[in-house]
Amino acid sequence: MTKENHVATASPEITQSGGEGAASPSKNGVKRRSFLKSLGVAGAALSGGSLLTAAAEASPRASIITVGDVAILRFLAAAEILETDLWQQYNELGGIQDSEVPGGSGSPAYAAAISFLDGDMSQYIHDNTEDEMTHEVFINAYLVSKGAEPVSLDQFRTLPSSQATGAQQIGRLTNLMQLSVDTTWWTRNRSRTGNPDLGDTFPQAIPSLAVGQHTAIPRTDEDLESANFLQAIANTAGFHFATIEQGGSSLYPKVAQRVTSSEVLRIVLSIGGTEIMHFQTWSDKAGNYKRLPAITDPVTGVSVTFKDLNSPPFGGEDFQTNLIMPEPTAFISRKLPPVSIIRPTQTKGAAMGALNALTADGLFIGQSKDFFNFMRTLAIEADLAVRE
Ligand SMILES: [Fe+2]
Ligand SMILES: [Fe+2]
Repeated sequence: MTKENHVATASPEITQSGGEGAASPSKNGVKRRSFLKSLGVAGAALSGGSLLTAAAEASPRASIITVGDVAILRFLAAAEILETDLWQQYNELGGIQDSEVPGGSGSPAYAAAISFLDGDMSQYIHDNTEDEMTHEVFINAYLVSKGAEPVSLDQFRTLPSSQATGAQQIGRLTNLMQLSVDTTWWTRNRSRTGNPDLGDTFPQAIPSLAVGQHTAIPRTDEDLESANFLQAIANTAGFHFATIEQGGSSLYPKVAQRVTSSEVLRIVLSIGGTEIMHFQTWSDKAGNYKRLPAITDPVTGVSVTFKDLNSPPFGGEDFQTNLIMPEPTAFISRKLPPVSIIRPTQTKGAAMGALNALTADGLFIGQSKDFFNFMRTLAIEADLAVRE
């Protein structure tokens, strides 16, 4: 979206409040004309005059969406497509392959290693995958219903599949085999004083997982041979699940602050709520990880250690493994009382921040320049959206 387009974005605000419209006619004159350029079918069919009348009688914010709303939804659609792609890979090997989530035939050894985190892991992986599929399909269908362009990333499905038995051999969008997993979600949500929105930073829970490249799925059947290395792969997945879903838990409330249509707000809040449920589930499961001494990847030579986070030098609220809900912390201002919240939620640069975080995790290693250009464009457009 160019800045010019952005200025021309619809302003349903004036359609909701005739009184406000009358108060500043010159400003609203511009808004009224630009409103007709909006993507809402109803808006396009009405004159500027009748628009105000219709607005007074209906709830225009519900059905008319702006260019900014479309940009936010298009970025979210792309994010959901990427999420589906990665969860699909987990499901093929460690989840339940059925008519709801088809594809793959399972890796019993990997599924058993993952089940160390919870006996129901395969069901949770299946359900998370199905959720992402429906998020992707719904947002795209909603865009189409509003006359907007849906998002497809099919041309970028070029990354290799795992060669382990159980995985489909198809082109992928995401790479789960070279991850540098940011585990600061663990300490960020346990801190009673820090908030990334107030400039605070947080230590890694599993520092060796955040550096070097680690696989979260067996790359080949050889990765199943060492029980300890296979468990390290499953632990890596356990921390990566929550890393991904923490992203969604924050992304939706961040962008919600800049949508205009109340219907789009409803969509963003409703899907965002599911993302928070995902994060809650995975932050609970990650705490059950198997403590492991330094384990070296036999292929890359990279090592990872899963220490007991309940013991010194860890322990305390920042690391305690049975904390699965956010500790109350500073929010908006340190002068206000601590409160239990999702964090971060600052809206500025939300889409690009999410894209950069996923990129830093190594999720797109091997992707083309065209892929990054496409995703960056969607992120820039979404971040230009303003609530009107
Ligand atoms: Fe999702
Ligand atoms: Fe999700």
